[in-house]
Amino acid sequence: MTTEALHPFSKQLLAWYPAHARDLPWRQTTDPYVIWLSEIILQQTRVAQGLPYFHKLVAAFPSVGALAAAEESVLFRNWQGLGYYSRARNLHKTAKLIVDQHHGVFPSTYQDLLQLPGVGPYTAAAIASFAFGEAAPVVDGNVFRILSRYFGIETDIMHASARKEFTAIAQGLIPHAQAATFNQAIMEFGSLQCSPVPNCADCPLRISCNAYATKRTQSLPIKSKSKAARNRYFNYIVVVHQDKFLVRIRTEKDIWQGLWEFVMHETEHVADAPEAFGPYTDWLDFPMTELKAPAKHLLSHQRIFSKAWLIQVPDYVKLAIPSNFQWMDAQEFENCGKPVLLLNLITDNLILHEWLHL
Ligand code: ADE
Repeated sequence: MTTEALHPFSKQLLAWYPAHARDLPWRQTTDPYVIWLSEIILQQTRVAQGLPYFHKLVAAFPSVGALAAAEESVLFRNWQGLGYYSRARNLHKTAKLIVDQHHGVFPSTYQDLLQLPGVGPYTAAAIASFAFGEAAPVVDGNVFRILSRYFGIETDIMHASARKEFTAIAQGLIPHAQAATFNQAIMEFGSLQCSPVPNCADCPLRISCNAYATKRTQSLPIKSKSKAARNRYFNYIVVVHQDKFLVRIRTEKDIWQGLWEFVMHETEHVADAPEAFGPYTDWLDFPMTELKAPAKHLLSHQRIFSKAWLIQVPDYVKLAIPSNFQWMDAQEFENCGKPVLLLNLITDNLILHEWLHL
């Protein structure tokens, strides 16, 4: 067997790791399902917050088959508190797909993993390396930061081409024989050493670090400011009449074009009924209940603050509806594409979730 020649960066990183690695449970397994679950949990959640959920979810759903067979509501109950329910919904969908289309066996290569819903280049590389030893480098914010500093790279990491450039560099650094350790190590190094405010004083890589030598550790990586986000205030009215829901498809040139929604009135600021109902106020003059709406929904350049109410129109009422609306039963509505905000609204309100078993 030939010994792989290691880049000094990789050699020093691998020497640093054993002395500094935290003992994290997903590092004690090569089960791709468990690794996938941990990576999805950690996507929008810090390690300390994610740990108890990891233990709870692995105990409740020890295999991909167990997760696929679970009721979605049971998964949601275990997910409660983690937020971003679309992650749980995607987990469930993907678990079912793995059972139905892959006989319950996890795909084992980077390219095949990438085909799974909710699995992007980072997660595919994490699973491929941690579970199967494939030399697929993980490239996340940590890796952008470390490599841009160490090699003095001035590419704007917000630019679409940055991932390709940094992936190519990482591909040249990752040792084929120690791919999993290298990937864990680089992430740990980004968390503990080369953090946004770096800890250069005791960094073993500083002798060969370009940013350290050129006093640029504060200015690298270069990250252009994203466009300022706009605040929007969406007020939803879930109108139910004779077991049907009043819905319409969004046709305007705006976010969510082509997706379906309930009656919605947008206001310039946080509003309460009746202002929140706008033109629908008089027309929907029935008793209402306020629902729990996703307080803040983040899109890349917009922050949507939402409120929602439920109006159950008595059966005997004949309600004339605007021409762009229609009544739909739960089953029809289930098959319509909806914004994640609306899915979250449904999930977060038991009464809606029971009607619209999404
Ligand atoms: N954040 C995301 N994935 C991680 C991992 N495998 N270890 C530590 N932190 C992480």
